Amino acid sequence: MVELAGAWKASSKNSNKAKIVMDAVRNSGSLYRDGLGMIASENIVSPMVQKVVGSDLHGRYAEGLPFKRYYQGCGDFDTIEDLGINLAKQLFKAPFANIQSISGTVSNIATLKAISNPGDDITAVSTADGGHISHARMGAVGLRDLNLSTYPWNEERMEPDIDASIKLIHDVKPKVALFGQSVFLFPTPLEDLAQAAHDVGAKVMYDGAHVLGLIAGGCFQNPLEEGADIMTGSSHKTFPGPQGGLILSSSKDEKFQRKLNNAIFPGTCSSYHLHHVAGKVIALAEFMEYGEDLSKNTVKNAKALGAALASEGFDVLAESRGYTASHQVLTRHGSLDSGAGAKAADLLEQAGIITNMNMLPGDTKAMSPSGLRLGAQELTRVGMGVDEMKDVARFYSRVLIDKEDPSSVKSDVKEFKSEYQTIRYCFNEDELSGYPL
Ligand SMILES: Cc1ncc(COP(=O)(O)O)c(C=O)c1O
Repeated sequence: MVELAGAWKASSKNSNKAKIVMDAVRNSGSLYRDGLGMIASENIVSPMVQKVVGSDLHGRYAEGLPFKRYYQGCGDFDTIEDLGINLAKQLFKAPFANIQSISGTVSNIATLKAISNPGDDITAVSTADGGHISHARMGAVGLRDLNLSTYPWNEERMEPDIDASIKLIHDVKPKVALFGQSVFLFPTPLEDLAQAAHDVGAKVMYDGAHVLGLIAGGCFQNPLEEGADIMTGSSHKTFPGPQGGLILSSSKDEKFQRKLNNAIFPGTCSSYHLHHVAGKVIALAEFMEYGEDLSKNTVKNAKALGAALASEGFDVLAESRGYTASHQVLTRHGSLDSGAGAKAADLLEQAGIITNMNMLPGDTKAMSPSGLRLGAQELTRVGMGVDEMKDVARFYSRVLIDKEDPSSVKSDVKEFKSEYQTIRYCFNEDELSGYPL
């Protein structure tokens, strides 16, 4: 790690400050190149996406929709965005797609703007049970001034308690019934819940930020077929594109579709980061070719990782359901609110394994939770399979159970990772097949 604060003070020239940034960027790249990136919300982009994200499009504007712009010079970008909208519709079997949103959170803010008014009721998964902060008063739900009621949770199954949630929806009669989580091990039992929501006149919104790639690859659930009116998501988690968002809808109603488009521009974005949109379109094209295999292998690897960690002696959640049906695995490292998850994450980082501490059912303190949330998507992207998940579990065990010095494990992690330096499931270009800067 570059000692930024100290280096900043010592440096009088602005060019030195820029150098500090370049060094830190390079170091951050090395951390992931030599280590195991296992944060469930992250991924690495393909060589072609890397190229497009660094292109001249970065400095351009294209307000409006393809072929209906406020600026000149957008002809080539019209081709790109139009292609991307059509690819997204095809991939998600959706009559509507907007690919402009600059993040999953912005997709949620825009969607809530389109389908609710201040003072309306919304039902969602609580953050304690794995809902995202944008589903909470502190996030997009509060920004839209909605009244939040959270679904009763089935801890054993790690999903909303179906009967009690249907009762909640009948009682509250929300304008929006929001589903989906950040801690997302199993598909939401959506059909009955969506039916209950539609019965009381609610729109059903499904936040697929984490599982978008698994959905596109046919490996999780298909929310738009199971009753969701709108699906939002990030384009950079299990869907392996550049940072950004998407909004998809099962609605063929053009007036409703216009509302969703308007909620992005002019509703929540002016520039919508054209270089990232172009990167999303490349990622969509790559996904059409390789996505099914990538998603299938990601879920297979996550299940294998759960089993391997359990046989090393870790407390892996949801054993009775095979640990996971997504890219995520949850492990508990001590008693509730003990901060054991934070300590484990820190030790693992010292060994070159990048994870995040996470609240598990029963934890109440976000900064001192008992658990870790792990993701298998990035390791899958560089070609690891179920056998390698056993090697990965062994590294965890050496650090956290055998209490080996993390720095000695780190050199073994680096050697292990040196075999996995090519980004797979994408169109590789000769001069650019490996990790980004
Ligand atoms: C369920 C869910 N929704 C939305 C988001 C926000 O996505 P972004 O980081 O793209 O804004 C996240 C982030 O991890 C998430 O887990």
